[in-house]
Amino acid sequence: MYEDERFSQAFYDELEGGRLGILSFVGRRVFDVSGYFYVGNLLRHCRLRSSRRVLEIGCGAASILTRANLVSGNDKRYFGIDVSPIMLDRARQVIHKKGLGGHIFLVESPASALPFKSESFDLVFLAYVIKHLSNESLTACLREAHRVLVPGGSLAFWEFLPSPFPWINRYIYAITRAQHLRTYPEALSFLAEAGFPEAKSFTVIAPWLPTRTLALVAKKRTSP
Ligand SMILES: C[S@@+](CC[C@H](N)C(=O)[O-])C[C@H]1O[C@@H](n2cnc3c(N)ncnc32)[C@H](O)[C@@H]1O
Repeated sequence: MYEDERFSQAFYDELEGGRLGILSFVGRRVFDVSGYFYVGNLLRHCRLRSSRRVLEIGCGAASILTRANLVSGNDKRYFGIDVSPIMLDRARQVIHKKGLGGHIFLVESPASALPFKSESFDLVFLAYVIKHLSNESLTACLREAHRVLVPGGSLAFWEFLPSPFPWINRYIYAITRAQHLRTYPEALSFLAEAGFPEAKSFTVIAPWLPTRTLALVAKKRTSP
């Protein structure tokens, strides 16, 4: 595990464990409702309906996965990995409460080393995770995403863009303890390095913070 991944594990364990006061309170509310905001992106831009095996990297409280199951059918297999065992405990409670135990599977794992066989998924996505990944762990994560996707499968991610107002970036870094907001050219170059030479942008509205969103979807090539 990379140093930044250990750091995120400690931070999200504390956040979801309720040890960060108001930040924990607000964070938990946001994670509980994120599915309502973001599953539309997966439907419109990422071929969620036709994907039978779906993986979310950094699934948090499984809000997106449970909502995806609801709107896109439970004839599919949804997997979530997360580095924080406390976030995953919360996700398990949510999945149990919604009776989705046989459809959504969770594994504790860092994004940089996915515990799945090659070519296991039709769709892999990350929502608000890449700001936590250093250049090294992001490179490893995207290579892993490429490895576990079937040829023709899709990788998507969305994340806050750096704002032209430095105080907004400082604020995002302060409340998320992240350090790596990236521009479109930076994100595209990480994707190319991991084997995704082309990607399309799409629009995501994030109601949480006054900054625009980076959102990209890329396809794994069907021939080398
Ligand atoms: C902002 S939360 C987003 C959760 C979820 N994607 C959502 O939008 O509701 C970021 C999640 O990514 C996880 N995370 C951060 N760095 C990670 C890493 N290197 N490997 C796996 N999970 C990571 C955190 O534990 C946390 O649950």
